Amino acid sequence: MSDTTEKPAERPYILHMFTATPQMSPFDVNMAADAGYQVIVPYCSVDQGMIANLTQDAIFSRGPKGVSRTGIFIGGRDVMLAADMLDTARRAMVPPFEVSVFADPSGSYTTAAALVALVERHLSKAYGMELGGKRVLILGGTGAVGRVAAAMAASLGADVSIASHAEQARAVRVSDEINQRFGIVTKGISTATPDQLHAALGEAEIVLATAIAGVQVVSAADLAHAKHLLIAADVNAVPPEGIAGVNVMNDGKPIEGVPNADAIGIGALAIGNVKYQVEHRLFMRMRAGGKPVYLGFPQAFDEARAVAAGLE
Ligand SMILES: NC(=O)c1ccc[n+]([C@@H]2O[C@H](COP(=O)([O-])OP(=O)(O)OC[C@H]3O[C@@H](n4cnc5c(N)ncnc54)[C@H](OP(=O)(O)O)[C@@H]3O)[C@@H](O)[C@H]2O)c1
Repeated sequence: MSDTTEKPAERPYILHMFTATPQMSPFDVNMAADAGYQVIVPYCSVDQGMIANLTQDAIFSRGPKGVSRTGIFIGGRDVMLAADMLDTARRAMVPPFEVSVFADPSGSYTTAAALVALVERHLSKAYGMELGGKRVLILGGTGAVGRVAAAMAASLGADVSIASHAEQARAVRVSDEINQRFGIVTKGISTATPDQLHAALGEAEIVLATAIAGVQVVSAADLAHAKHLLIAADVNAVPPEGIAGVNVMNDGKPIEGVPNADAIGIGALAIGNVKYQVEHRLFMRMRAGGKPVYLGFPQAFDEARAVAAGLE
């Protein structure tokens, strides 16, 4: 005779992962599994018009208790589209059928959050200064990580220049887009020629390199022009160093051969360590139960500041 008194197994943690790109990022799948999601389902080539229906398809079947064990992740490459998708998913909820949603397209929200939070921490620790008012140059600033870092730094009152190595028009387009969206002020500049790059480095107090992986955007000779430099931070972990002399392991180490001997570097693995912890914590927050949470880049930045504050 079968045992009909057996208690039903606990419901698994399910994560529905939406991306506008043809595939979901394996990095994010691993992170979700390591944060305790047991069933992880990628939905690829999802457009904005599909988000409300997919969300409502995910929320009703498990009852009000099951929703706390159900989550939605939004990936992709487009940082603005992911923010729109997060907003659409949130508006599609039908309380009490409401699940947590976390967006981190191309890792850009958590990476930019880690980058800006670490710069903020070192600026305070090494110089007793704040980011507000500082001249920040973002090389590769037209990319996913760069534009989110630009929005975060400008929101803190920094004077941000978004640089394109290709052409000024591209940098201006990106700058206009984020200015309009977030009510901030940034400018777009070209670093296509050595003279333009040297002039931009000559003005900057903080240099952030967020260009494509495996490309050096500042050589040792270029760095000699950075006469006001306080901090140079590089997110590229693939050799060669994105900024010459800023090793991937550096976490506030002086940079050799720059006009200001006190200038310090922050490398990709130091940033990656904070990014990893931020992404893990955000997934854990989704699973913590209680009220559903909606996690975009402001929440990633708050979490990165908390992680950075806990570092030695
Ligand atoms: N450390 C971490 O934890 C972590 C995590 C995620 C990502 N990352 C790294 O973050 C960086 C940025 O990622 P992303 O997704 O934002 O990059 P992306 O969008 O692919 O590229 C960023 C920018 O790089 C510039 N670029 C392209 N080709 C270039 C070249 N040959 N020389 C100089 N610049 C070039 C482009 O801007 P212009 O053509 O306008 O100059 C592009 O917008 C990458 O290095 C990635 O590996 C690090």
